[in-house]
Amino acid sequence: MKIAVLGTGVVGKALARGFVGIGYDVMMGTRDAKSEKAIALLNEVPGVKIGSFNEAAKFGEMAVLCTLWSGTESALKMADAKNLAGKVVIDATNPLVFAPNAPPSLALGHTDSGGEQVQRWLHESKVVKAFNIVGNTEMVKPEFPCGPPDMFIAGNDVDAKAKVTEILTAFGWNTVDIGGIEGARVLEPLTILWVLYGMHTGAWRHAYKMLKK
Ligand SMILES: NC(=O)c1ccc[n+]([C@@H]2O[C@H](COP(=O)([O-])OP(=O)(O)OC[C@H]3O[C@@H](n4cnc5c(N)ncnc54)[C@H](OP(=O)(O)O)[C@@H]3O)[C@@H](O)[C@H]2O)c1
Repeated sequence: MKIAVLGTGVVGKALARGFVGIGYDVMMGTRDAKSEKAIALLNEVPGVKIGSFNEAAKFGEMAVLCTLWSGTESALKMADAKNLAGKVVIDATNPLVFAPNAPPSLALGHTDSGGEQVQRWLHESKVVKAFNIVGNTEMVKPEFPCGPPDMFIAGNDVDAKAKVTEILTAFGWNTVDIGGIEGARVLEPLTILWVLYGMHTGAWRHAYKMLKK
């Protein structure tokens, strides 16, 4: 399976390493594939290809979006929605707004979400919100004393969510499907909870688990 990792920050690198680790053919997308930062990725993430956002979107049979929220619309314009039409697009972004000396807030919420906005920008793609509720260090092969944590996912396409669940299982997660993409309205605020706990305790290696009976 060929996958485009649209984003080269810590999340893009963690997920790209994870996809290489399960045998995927990975191209990371960036604004300038010839920059020093982009070329360094070849060493930082052994086995990946590097391309522009557009080249990566064309290359991938599916994609994962991991861009800074404020740059996401621009990155998707460079990728070109047509190159992602019909494809599963995992949305790992969070629409965070940062202010000095304060916890982040969300650029949109309550009646809308980043996940829904991404689905509107990519209206011919099958967007699945996933990976946004945990830090990049735990995204692949998370190890916790109480067993695998839960990754909550949301999206409108059942087959796309099945594909994402397969990936999450391979990465060591238990998946909890919470329904349509509007579920991103609650998944994105969970990130604020994740961050607040980290700021309060100084510990940054936590994840969620839903108890059921
Ligand atoms: N950090 C975490 O642990 C974590 C966990 C869960 C979710 N998230 C979410 O995942 C996303 C990625 O986070 P991150 O910390 O890995 O990296 P980041 O610094 O938030 O984003 C880096 C990526 O965004 C692209 N970018 C930045 N400004 C842009 C612009 N104006 N136009 C187009 N592209 C632009 C960069 O492009 P270039 O490659 O060209 O530089 C780079 O690929 C964010 O939405 C974040 O909220 C983060």
